Amino acid sequence: MKLRNDHIVIFGGGSGIGKAIAERFCTAGAKVLIVGRTEKKLAEAAAEIASDHLHYLPFDIADCDAHRDFFAKAEAKLGGIGGFVNAAALGAGTIGRGYEPWDITPDEWTMLTDVNFKAAFFLMRNEINYFLEKEVRGNILNLASNAACMDIRGSYGASKEAIIKWTRALGKKYGHNGIILNGIAPGATFTPMIASYAHEIDQKYERHAIERFIRPDEIAELAFYLMSDYGEIICGHTVVADGGDNKATL
Ligand SMILES: NC(=O)c1ccc[n+]([C@@H]2O[C@H](COP(=O)([O-])OP(=O)(O)OC[C@H]3O[C@@H](n4cnc5c(N)ncnc54)[C@H](OP(=O)(O)O)[C@@H]3O)[C@@H](O)[C@H]2O)c1
Repeated sequence: MKLRNDHIVIFGGGSGIGKAIAERFCTAGAKVLIVGRTEKKLAEAAAEIASDHLHYLPFDIADCDAHRDFFAKAEAKLGGIGGFVNAAALGAGTIGRGYEPWDITPDEWTMLTDVNFKAAFFLMRNEINYFLEKEVRGNILNLASNAACMDIRGSYGASKEAIIKWTRALGKKYGHNGIILNGIAPGATFTPMIASYAHEIDQKYERHAIERFIRPDEIAELAFYLMSDYGEIICGHTVVADGGDNKATL
């Protein structure tokens, strides 16, 4: 099994799941560009992965009008782009409170949905457009969440459910152009995003049937499969990898 495309841009690659995917893909010999808002975080991730194949560039995906200019910069860095991993997002805990409907103000709603909903859509749309224009049989992998498979009470789960629907609709349409668009919906994965309740990897987590957190490298293996030559048979789908979360309804 090998990657279907080996020049990959990873939004949200400076930490957590995106960083683990970057490391996995570099190990497989791919050229990888990791992207996030914080240059220091990207530089630290690059130092940790320590691969000649790894590059980084800071960028805020919420600046939707700048996506295409950013792709041009990324293309120049990598010498072409064959795949995008969309892992950049704000966690539900970003606003520092809970998940109940009354826990969020309109301004906080906008802050979260500008990245997780609006930018996620325009990024995906602009990536497809990039591949169509360049006639690249590219890959796109979206990070949704199993929060999409729960009774939704706030904006985070709703934004992730939208991603699953767009992945299905756009994946089935542009698969005809050789563009393979899929998603992963992880359960609680041990990354900075869930640091408020995940303190150590060995901590018991009973909400999952496997009674533990998911490791980012486990999600990275699934990402590798979905973006591999074998993964082409999965097109327009989001794979739920949640260790049997007892709150998810799918
Ligand atoms: N961890 C979990 O339990 C879990 C479960 C289900 C789904 N997910 C999803 O998996 C993906 C990866 O999350 P993670 O757990 O690895 O969290 P993470 O470590 O917080 O990674 C998210 C990354 O996105 C970047 N980012 C955030 N806003 C951005 C923006 N506007 N522009 C560019 N980059 C931005 C962050 O870097 P900067 O702050 O430097 O920009 C950060 O490196 C997310 O889509 C998340 O919703 C995670």
